[in-house]
Amino acid sequence: MIYVLNGPNLGRLGTREPDVYGRTTYADLVRLCEETGSRLGVDVVVRQTDAEYEMLGWLHAAADEGADVVLNPAAWSHYSIAVRDACGMLTGRLVEVHISNIHTREEFRHHSLISAVATGVIAGLGVDGYRLAIEHLTTGNPDSPVGGSRR
Ligand code: DQA
Repeated sequence: MIYVLNGPNLGRLGTREPDVYGRTTYADLVRLCEETGSRLGVDVVVRQTDAEYEMLGWLHAAADEGADVVLNPAAWSHYSIAVRDACGMLTGRLVEVHISNIHTREEFRHHSLISAVATGVIAGLGVDGYRLAIEHLTTGNPDSPVGGSRR
């Protein structure tokens, strides 16, 4: 089981700042992740919430199950110590995904509190980043450097 968890405002993909986030809708994103999972023979559950407590509950459940997580923490990336602490409890791997390249945008987006507890980070590849994250978690990459990762 892989959980693909999305934070605030990502339910509005498609109409939300299309110049930044593209025209793929949230429904398209769900389909992309589910199709990637079924092609690779892994169950993928995709969720989105604007409520931090709900995200924390999903992360706690993933920790208890030992499940791998693909997380786009959205704005929480930049200020939520609570989301970071919940990510720190995960027992499976964590891939942090950002649709946009947060490093080329406003200064306040350059730092993610989540990255220090992530297995790896994908940013700036659009929604394709989700597909790549699921493929990585499913097929693995024997050449992955592990030195910088805590998992
Ligand atoms: C985002 C980048 C964040 O800075 C922003 O707050 C988001 C989306 C991305 O996917 O590029 O909501 O995580």
